[in-house]
Amino acid sequence: MTSEATFDLPEAAWFNKFRRYLKRWYPANARDLPWRRTHDAYRIWISEIMLQQTTVAAVVPYYERFLNRFPDVHSLASADEQDVLKLWEGLGYYSRARNIHKAAKHVVAELDGVFPESADELQKLPGIGRYTAGAIASFAFDTAAPIVEANTLRLYCRLLGYDGDPRSKQGQELLWAFAERTLPRKEPGLFNQALMELGGTLCSVKEPQCSDCPVRTCCIAFANDRQHEIPRPKQRPKITLLTHVNVIVRKKNQVLLRQHTDSERWSGLWDFPRYELSDELARCIPTAAGQSLFSVEQQLSDFLINNVAAETGVTCSIDEKFTELTHSVTRYRIRLVVFVATFTHGRISSETNVVWAKPSQVDDLP
Ligand code: ADE
Repeated sequence: MTSEATFDLPEAAWFNKFRRYLKRWYPANARDLPWRRTHDAYRIWISEIMLQQTTVAAVVPYYERFLNRFPDVHSLASADEQDVLKLWEGLGYYSRARNIHKAAKHVVAELDGVFPESADELQKLPGIGRYTAGAIASFAFDTAAPIVEANTLRLYCRLLGYDGDPRSKQGQELLWAFAERTLPRKEPGLFNQALMELGGTLCSVKEPQCSDCPVRTCCIAFANDRQHEIPRPKQRPKITLLTHVNVIVRKKNQVLLRQHTDSERWSGLWDFPRYELSDELARCIPTAAGQSLFSVEQQLSDFLINNVAAETGVTCSIDEKFTELTHSVTRYRIRLVVFVATFTHGRISSETNVVWAKPSQVDDLP
């Protein structure tokens, strides 16, 4: 079949068999994950937000630390955003942390601290989309709400033999209709967990373990030996290369830090003053660490000194390149070049988002 073909959902008998086999498999064969030991909507919500774009292994220690510090929605709502971001440090996609803080304040102020039980109401909270709403509603309250996310999307496509684009309008309609149709009346939350577990373990992207799969006899991709082709791979976004510079301005044993503002990437997080370079300025960067910015790099040196002064009130002289590294943020590949500089004169101009910090204080800031 091709993507142009209309896909019908299977017959009732297929769903009955599928549910029976899946229920026999789960939870006996499931991983023991901390968010599966609770029906507390707050805890499930935190886990689902952390699991967006992030693996189970990376999430577990963050989840445990976060809940030790903020055990309920009230403690989170009354926290300082900086403390929430600090606990998110390293997990990435920081708008998730800002959104959960906003959502917690809303739940406490407007909903008496009680999470709604319906997926539609949950979706009104910041940072909660259709999948996350379905997961919280079904795992916490056993509401019959369907789920489609990366793992279940792969599982459903293979079961149906759907080789169209699962992220297209037609693909999404089909997969959400499948998710809705497959939900049993009894224990839909447990059933959704089983779907996720199968999608996240045996029905893996590269090495699906079909011989161990409890529903292989229901699977069209397996019947046609097409499990490696289905689902159709996601179109990768075009990667944009950027060059950034950090300037570490030193004054005795302190360094100058600046907090990213609301309109910037990494809003709320602290950084050394950071600037994006044009291609022309990027060509001025010395290749080796320890090289000073002499005449050829005057243009770059002036650019950095002027920007630091304009943004912080502090004037410095650029000493040398310290190091460089490359990291990826969403569809950007960032070459980050770090220069060390020495304070010459001036006072910090902002009382809110620029500070002189001792090394020990740097660790306390997100
Ligand atoms: N990915 C997203 N939600 C998950 C969950 N509840 N368990 C395992 N992996 C997940």
